[in-house]
Amino acid sequence: MTEKLISGFSKLSKQEKIDWVNTHFSANNPQDMAVDFPDFWLENETVQEVIDGFSENTLSNFILPYGIAPNFLINGVPYAVPMVIEESSVVAAASSAAKFWLSKGGFKTKVLSTVKIGQIHFKWDGESSLLHQLFPEIKDKLLSESKHLGANMVKRGGGVTAIELIDFNHLENGLYQLRIKFETVNSMGANFINTHLESFSKSLKAFFDSSDALSAADREIDIIMSILSNYTPECLVTASVSCPISQLKGVFKDMEEAEFAYKFQQAVRIAEIDPYRATTHNKGIFNGIDAVVIATGNDFRAVEAAGHAYAAKDGSYKSLSSCHIENDIFTFSLTLPMAIGTIGGLTNLHPLAKKSLAILGEPDAPLLMQIIAAVGLAQNFAAVKSLITSGIQEGHMRMHLMNILVHLQATDIEKNNAVDHFKHIPVSFSSVREYLESIRSK
Ligand code: MEV
Repeated sequence: MTEKLISGFSKLSKQEKIDWVNTHFSANNPQDMAVDFPDFWLENETVQEVIDGFSENTLSNFILPYGIAPNFLINGVPYAVPMVIEESSVVAAASSAAKFWLSKGGFKTKVLSTVKIGQIHFKWDGESSLLHQLFPEIKDKLLSESKHLGANMVKRGGGVTAIELIDFNHLENGLYQLRIKFETVNSMGANFINTHLESFSKSLKAFFDSSDALSAADREIDIIMSILSNYTPECLVTASVSCPISQLKGVFKDMEEAEFAYKFQQAVRIAEIDPYRATTHNKGIFNGIDAVVIATGNDFRAVEAAGHAYAAKDGSYKSLSSCHIENDIFTFSLTLPMAIGTIGGLTNLHPLAKKSLAILGEPDAPLLMQIIAAVGLAQNFAAVKSLITSGIQEGHMRMHLMNILVHLQATDIEKNNAVDHFKHIPVSFSSVREYLESIRSK
């Protein structure tokens, strides 16, 4: 047991780390040894060093497929959208939805707001009315003492836009929050926000140490923490598609266009009513969103967290998309928070993130928000369309079959025969293996 614990792991070289892991955690299993970490090292050592620098204790690179969903028409401009995702059918579904809406005017998108939020939580036992009275003075001190920070951001039009005092005394004695609003232009802004918050915290403490308006007993302030909020309900983007119901003709071979439209609307309504369905529905939206967020070097956990919190903003978890039919016009739309950037972070460091941004025409952050929202909507359209028509297993299983065939090193002829064979037979790893064994033994 103790040989499986180590101190100073981070100080070992990469090869020493690998040897240690292989010796203590996989040496008894020959299958684990068949593929080793160095097999996935990049030949270009400079790039490998950049990638290693993103994290700690790195042994290797974990590869995910990088695909393109072409034919996205967004506000009249065509895009081929990079997507990084390991789930089969997602890129195909986004591409087919993009193509479907291409002939109907494409996606209309709009950024509704770009405010990011930072918070300083502190405890103070004084009279709350005194704090409210002193707040304008505190605010001026915080702003003037942080002026030297982020001059570049300010030049680009960003900065602190508001500071609000929130009193939580009714929930927790002596608890307050400074809620600070930021504009971070083309960067996601995490560093800009957190640097400001830490400077504000120091100024706040200094105010309590020195203000003449406070008695000795009132000087005690306990700053609990200062950090941005990943909930960004004022950093919103919306995307929609719309067409007369008559233009939905042919959307699915066995369904009339009006039946499709109303069934689709009903399916979205279910995701507004029932959190169990809403979670799966929104997961489908994030299949598309995360794939572009990752491909462009952005933080998908932040985007997911904000999206799910926003989905619950009315007190129960709901669909992020909605569908309306009015005067025979079918409209499907998605609105969600999206705190992403096109400068800073990994966006310019990861070589493929850089490439993705180039493919998208070097968008600024608001444009990238819109592209991502359009892909989320396309993904949702494709998923709900499948669910109310053929079901998703048909397409999924075809991809699943292909993955199994590749794993079992099937030839092209074997693959074609297998696709025919499994048209009406359930696909499983063992059934495909048995099928291949049977045709190979003939
Ligand atoms: C699968 O990854 C995503 C779906 O389940 C989404 C949905 O049900 O809407 C197909």
